[in-house]
Amino acid sequence: MTPTISPQRRRVRSRVAAGATVAVLGVSAAVGIALAIPATAADAPAALSSVILGVGADESQRIVTWYSSADTAQAVQVAPTATVVSGEFPADATTFAATGGANIASSGGFNRHVTITDLDPNTAYSYRVGAEGGWSPTYSFKTQSFEGDYDFLFFGDPQIGSSGHVAEDGAGWADTLNVALTANPDAELLVSGGDQVETANTEAQWDAFLASDKLRQYPWVATIGNHDVGGKAYEQHLFTPNTDRSAALYANGNPASNTSGGDYWFIYKDVLFIDLNSNSYTTTSGGGGDEAHIGYVTDVIDQHGADAKYTVLVYHHAIYSPADHAKDSDNKVRRVDFPTVFSNLGVDLVLQGHDHSYSRSYEIKNGAKANPDEVPGAADVYPGPGGVVYVTANSASGSKYYDITAPDGSGTSGAGNGPDPLNPANYWYNSVQNQEHVRTYVKVQVRADQLVVENVRSGTCAAPNAAVQFGTVGQKWCANPANTFVPGSTQPDNSQALPVGSIVDSVVIHPFHGGDGQDIQVDVPAAPPGEFGWTIDGHNGLVSLGTAENHNGDYYEATGQLNPILVSDSRRSLAPWAISASVSDFADGARTFSGAYLGWTPTVIVAGAGAQANGAVASAYDDHGQGLSVPRGLAYADQGHPKGSATLGADLDLKIPGTVDEGSYRATLTITALVS
Ligand SMILES: [Fe+2]
Repeated sequence: MTPTISPQRRRVRSRVAAGATVAVLGVSAAVGIALAIPATAADAPAALSSVILGVGADESQRIVTWYSSADTAQAVQVAPTATVVSGEFPADATTFAATGGANIASSGGFNRHVTITDLDPNTAYSYRVGAEGGWSPTYSFKTQSFEGDYDFLFFGDPQIGSSGHVAEDGAGWADTLNVALTANPDAELLVSGGDQVETANTEAQWDAFLASDKLRQYPWVATIGNHDVGGKAYEQHLFTPNTDRSAALYANGNPASNTSGGDYWFIYKDVLFIDLNSNSYTTTSGGGGDEAHIGYVTDVIDQHGADAKYTVLVYHHAIYSPADHAKDSDNKVRRVDFPTVFSNLGVDLVLQGHDHSYSRSYEIKNGAKANPDEVPGAADVYPGPGGVVYVTANSASGSKYYDITAPDGSGTSGAGNGPDPLNPANYWYNSVQNQEHVRTYVKVQVRADQLVVENVRSGTCAAPNAAVQFGTVGQKWCANPANTFVPGSTQPDNSQALPVGSIVDSVVIHPFHGGDGQDIQVDVPAAPPGEFGWTIDGHNGLVSLGTAENHNGDYYEATGQLNPILVSDSRRSLAPWAISASVSDFADGARTFSGAYLGWTPTVIVAGAGAQANGAVASAYDDHGQGLSVPRGLAYADQGHPKGSATLGADLDLKIPGTVDEGSYRATLTITALVS
């Protein structure tokens, strides 16, 4: 018997190196073309508005979209901020020609967009839109390292205008952006949960949505909601990368109609994001329904999933949520159509909106709770193969809140909305549910071996909090579920509100790393020497060798320890056993180095079952041998060994030539048990 189990889906990455074109990723996004656009006598400067910075196809790109009063040739001009002196762009500033078209009649004017490409890491940039003689104000954004950890923020349903008071909804939205980005100035993406506005083509609502300059400093990751779909303004305002505008991805099957739609994807620093138009879920209106989205997600993950460490899906209509929309018939359809596909494709996290309340699901596999023992509100979750966590965001603007609703008798899997046996007030699928009538946002920390999800309060009961101010929920409690009143008053006692920045919920998701295999990661630094370290988890987490240390430019070295392996043998035959392993090449996209550079020193951590450690194997750097690139013994027991169990480990030693390129490399160690 020789059980050799490889990880469910090997996740190495093949990202675009700094300065490379997006062609490496096989996408069709435009590459920037430098050109100068002179003003002509006939061109009066166009009035420019609605400028928004959007995400590009990867971390070296941004997309800028805006409105123009005139149908003139326009562009985006970009330069490192350090070269912009007294507001003057340098002569060698890069200019990207804009494309676009006429807006629909109710919007008026024209739309323009540009994909800025070939950005450098760790650089502050200034940019402006328009043309010579008629530039917009100068805005700025910054890039950060194109490798490693980062944070992004997720915002539910700003839905400006939903309270009936556009200005106050906009004020709450702007305040959440300010609060979130003051607390997280280095966040790299602002991800939408959909429903940017209440009424699809009402430009006054879009103006309020776009009022904050934060949306010109940090890239917006647009998501279409049911309130955005009924017009073209969403597409006119928010151009997105790698967008499939096939008829099947529009709810009515007609991209030319006065509706918005389409699905898109991008990879940002090892996370593959796929953003879906969940308005299209049935074929009865003419679109391709959920089946079309499933085909799209499957194709994107098949083609690009191995280029990222994590897969995050984003769409508007929450399928596991706690409030008014939890039992909607359309969401029940999606809840049947999607989960098994997402489990099979190895999705790590799903971000949703629409229910204007916060929830974090249990680990869901194939439409059912994966682990009956997962307790409500667990601080750490360890999804096995197929385990997916679904998060629903509360309102980021305060324009509308929905209250938590009660489970029913419709079952505890699939489309059911039955109670959680461990917490009967909650739906079976939710680990955490929350509604306090205060604004919140979700912070996601992307780390080498975990995703940390937090729901954070960005407001209190106080204004701006339009749904409370104007009575939608104002006569009920705010942050006071007991709905008690100020003594001697008819006003609710809102004094229990917790402060801005406090945490509603926090969970660390430890992703699955395969069956009997172990993924190993080492970061090779650009400049010596760096700190290095490693993490050993109680589960089969990533074996991180940390950052390799440079030795006088001759070689890099990194060390770590294998995740402990427990062997137990209770056979009567007392027959021999042996554990061996070999490692793949280390890869970071197209950059690789041989697994032969990994050596080890096996150890028996807890003795038993006759276990004896095999001898050490040197890195090929030291002995020009094959290291662990060929199967090597970890431990064994001879015929007649005692029954029992042993815990095996190994000290790992990676030595690689100093010529290896900077990168974050991963390899898979496959472990094999030989039993006679
Ligand atoms: Fe919605």
